[in-house]
Amino acid sequence: EADLANQLPLKGKTILVTAGPTYEAIDPVRFIGNHSSGKMGYDIALCAAQLGASVLLVSGPSHCKANHTGIQILPVVSAQEMYDVCLTYFSQVDVAIAAAAVADYKPKNVASQKIKKSDAEFSIELEKTKDILAYMGAVKKNQMVIGFALETENEIENANLKIQKKNLDLIVLNSLQDDGAGFQKETNKVTFIDKNFNIQPMELKSKEAVAADIINKVIAYFNA
Ligand code: CTP
Ligand code: CA
Repeated sequence: EADLANQLPLKGKTILVTAGPTYEAIDPVRFIGNHSSGKMGYDIALCAAQLGASVLLVSGPSHCKANHTGIQILPVVSAQEMYDVCLTYFSQVDVAIAAAAVADYKPKNVASQKIKKSDAEFSIELEKTKDILAYMGAVKKNQMVIGFALETENEIENANLKIQKKNLDLIVLNSLQDDGAGFQKETNKVTFIDKNFNIQPMELKSKEAVAADIINKVIAYFNA
């Protein structure tokens, strides 16, 4: 029995993972999106499920597959939909991991018909989306909340600010500097920063291996 507990250290735990991009509608046929594949979030979900967790995978549009009975996919399209689903489920989970590349802005008005071109210039007014991770950090009760950060300058300083602003337990800082890290890639180079601002740079590795590192942080949190 002790062996089984070691193999399934997350048995009895529920983990919410956000993954993929969001699509923000402009009109019935167009949207604002980004190049996130969803792979990082799906790899985290799979790793957690393999270690016994019940996983709620709130996924924006993605071609990734979640082949594990421990994973329940909750598909969403927009940032608002992702926010609504996370709001509904957050109180029931032990851990939330925000791996989604959520749009920061969305069109203020969505045209009900396809926008026709004209000779005039055209612009779209944008308004901010709700910050899902900040919401979860603000309302958490004995729950572990993990965010990602993508920075192109003052990486550590900006990531520290995000930990404080969003009341996170851990941030996974993505380094775009190194070749082979980031969107649409198989590998990732990350630095972990915890709420006490301990900084732990990791090697460049596969997204599966980064997912395992993140899940090990979750296991350590429960064993602390
Ligand atoms: N995030 C979120 N909801 C949003 C925006 C971001 O949950 N509306 C989450 C992402 O999933 C990620 C973290 O916040 O885990 C940080 O995302 P990032 O884009 O690096 O930071 P932002 O807070 O959006 O700030 P900025 O883009 O200005 O750096
Ligand atoms: Ca952002």
